[in-house]
Amino acid sequence: MYKLIRSILFLFPAEAVHYFAMNCLSLAAKIPVIKQLFDFASGIAANPVTAFGIGFDHSVGLAAGFDKNARYLYELRALGFSHVEIGTVTPLAQEGNPKPRLFRLPHDQALINRMGFNNDGVKVISDRLRKYRQATMENTRSPERSRGAFIIGGNIGKNKITPNEEAWKDYEICFRALYDLVDYFVVNVSSPNTPGLRELQEKESLRKILSHLQTINSQNGKMKPILLKIAPDLTPPQVDDVIELAAEISLDGLVVSNTTISRDALSSKSQELATAIGAGGLSGKPLAERSDALIRYISEKSEGTLPIIGSGGVFTASDAKRKLEAGATLVQVWTGFIYEGPAIVKKILRGLK
Ligand SMILES: Cc1cc2nc3c(=O)[nH]c(=O)nc-3n(C[C@H](O)[C@H](O)[C@H](O)COP(=O)(O)O)c2cc1C
Repeated sequence: MYKLIRSILFLFPAEAVHYFAMNCLSLAAKIPVIKQLFDFASGIAANPVTAFGIGFDHSVGLAAGFDKNARYLYELRALGFSHVEIGTVTPLAQEGNPKPRLFRLPHDQALINRMGFNNDGVKVISDRLRKYRQATMENTRSPERSRGAFIIGGNIGKNKITPNEEAWKDYEICFRALYDLVDYFVVNVSSPNTPGLRELQEKESLRKILSHLQTINSQNGKMKPILLKIAPDLTPPQVDDVIELAAEISLDGLVVSNTTISRDALSSKSQELATAIGAGGLSGKPLAERSDALIRYISEKSEGTLPIIGSGGVFTASDAKRKLEAGATLVQVWTGFIYEGPAIVKKILRGLK
């Protein structure tokens, strides 16, 4: 059924379809009969997982960048995700790069994006999250609550206009503003679409940003888990630096990985299309092997002490299983949602059983 809908949706520009589909889902969720169906469908048998001190209903979540502005939390929860990572959020609102900036490579079940951290800014997003939190707290007797908590991660970044030397201030602004509203944080220094951002993955820059956040964290009563999201394109010495630093500053985990700037894993059929598309981060099936290898390397090198959220090419239960076996505790989907449709969580969980 979704394949038929997908063939129609794929006739239109990818970014427009993304928002159209999410708004349709939102509207549908407001119709009482459909809402009941949603609620029924979200009653997925839980397979609880604990990671960085947080209990998750199961291991499958939604990766950052899908609901950048925390607009669709109710709907995403109803689709069965155990967690959603909002953002990347920056201090000031940003329009991002000129459109078109999201492209499909159907032959390889991949996407290329150069969105550039388009988001409503931390003030608007934290107000929206606060309302969501208040609404769901008021709703403590509703059936959804008894199914366990829906975990929200806050993925934070820096504005394009902020120079790298002052990036730590942007991370602090977002960290403080979202502190009471999210369950864990992800520091994003690995998006290929903000010029110079990935230079912050160098050990000294990372130390400055992360240790500063840890200091603020320790001054608050209850410490929030802080994870770092890394690029799949790091060199082996850079990966070793990240592992060392993680131990040094008691980082709570890693998200492995963001999109790749490499086009090596694309089939020859998609290479030409990718060249025509130009710059951007590649996601989906061609990323899976690289991300799995990186998860395995980090897990072995850190002797399993560093919790990992696996991201990159998760479409099916076997994709998720490969990441869990490589050492991830949780997995996240993004591109798989576009190709497999909204039943993706249920299908993966059924297959993982
Ligand atoms: C259109 C698009 C926007 C994204 N935006 C973000 C973002 O804002 N922050 C981030 O950390 N990752 C972002 N990502 C990366 C995803 O979170 C994910 O790590 C990556 O796409 C690999 O997973 P996948 O192969 O399942 O798509 C984005 C990905 C896509 C396709």
